Amino acid sequence: MRLSQVLFSQGFGSRRACAALIAGGAVQLGGRIADDPEEDVAAEGLVFSVQGRAWPYHARALVLMHKPAGYECSQKPRHHPSVMSLLPPPLRERGVQPIGRLDEDTTGLLLFTDDGALIHRLTSPRHHVPKVYEIETRHPLEDAQIERLLAGVVLDDDPLPVRAAAVQRRTSFTLSLTLTEGKYHQVKRMLAAVGNRVESLHRSAFGALALPPDLAPGEWRWLYPRQLDAATASPATPAAG
Ligand code: URA
Repeated sequence: MRLSQVLFSQGFGSRRACAALIAGGAVQLGGRIADDPEEDVAAEGLVFSVQGRAWPYHARALVLMHKPAGYECSQKPRHHPSVMSLLPPPLRERGVQPIGRLDEDTTGLLLFTDDGALIHRLTSPRHHVPKVYEIETRHPLEDAQIERLLAGVVLDDDPLPVRAAAVQRRTSFTLSLTLTEGKYHQVKRMLAAVGNRVESLHRSAFGALALPPDLAPGEWRWLYPRQLDAATASPATPAAG
């Protein structure tokens, strides 16, 4: 692939802008300045740097973020900045979007990709990827509330009950809850339906992909598609860095 095409595919601006970046000496390959936009390079596995920042080539972008509170997942946020503002410009330029949404005040594991088919597959109601939420409640948890979350509760927009795939009480005011669907405000509405209230909400796992403990709020890292494939099949392990 031509070097200018590599940069273009990774979100570094128009073809002309990419060629200018290269010709201007801003791009390095293996520690040397690569200033020929026509240079033929093997894209797969390539790590190039632009203005000193290393950038691995990914045919499709797939990243995992530790979403902080105070950010909206919407492309057109209304009251808070968008989670997109936490990503570097090339990722935004190539059109990555969050896979599903977390509320503005929810923290934790959020995936992004520019692969529309993948977004469709993972957000489809037929694809039951388990997601684990860590919840702090306003009122002490009662056995009857846990039983109802597991048995199923009816929310106001659907006569069919929704149930938690698993519930683990951690303390009197904390629990972890596994859901295999993703309705609007589902955790908050389920807790409200059993007579409690969510005080804080954090997503700790998506499929078998756990939020890496060393990824601080607001930070993100690349994932490889095979990590996601594995994530929808086996027990949770932190994503490798
Ligand atoms: N359920 C909610 O209520 N909010 C979230 O952000 C995610 C799941």
